[in-house]
Amino acid sequence: MYSDKVMENFKNPKNTGEIPDADGVGTVGNPVCGDMMTIFIKVKDNRIEDIKFKTFGCGAAIATSSMTTQMAKGKTLEEALKISRKDVASELNGLPPVKMHCSNLAADALHAAIQDYLKKQQTKNEVKK
Ligand code: FES
Repeated sequence: MYSDKVMENFKNPKNTGEIPDADGVGTVGNPVCGDMMTIFIKVKDNRIEDIKFKTFGCGAAIATSSMTTQMAKGKTLEEALKISRKDVASELNGLPPVKMHCSNLAADALHAAIQDYLKKQQTKNEVKK
C-alpha cells in the first residue's frame, strides 16, 4: 500500500524534534482526523538553515513531514514557500488516496512557519523605525 520511500521515512524519520530558539514556528491541525503538526525553522540569510518537526499524527504524516523538512532544508524562503502538498507526495512516490490529506499537514505547517518568521521580521523592523 505504501511506497518504499514512505516506509523508509516513517521508520527512520529525519529532522524530528524541536528548535527551542526557532525563528519561525507553524502549527496546523488536520480537520479530517484531528492530528496536529508543528514545524520549527531557523533562518539565516533568507535560507532555511535548520528545520525540525513534531507531530501527533499517523505514519503518513510522519513520513510526509520527514520528506518536507528534507526538501525545505537549505532552500530560500521563496523556494520553500513553493513546496506544495503535491510535490511532497510525488517525492515520496505517491501516497494512497485516503492518506493524501495527511500530506497536507507538513506543507501547510512549513508555510505557516515561514509566514510566522516573516511576520516577526516585520514587527522587528517596525520597532526599529
Ligand atoms: Fe491524521 Fe494522517 S490520519 S494525519
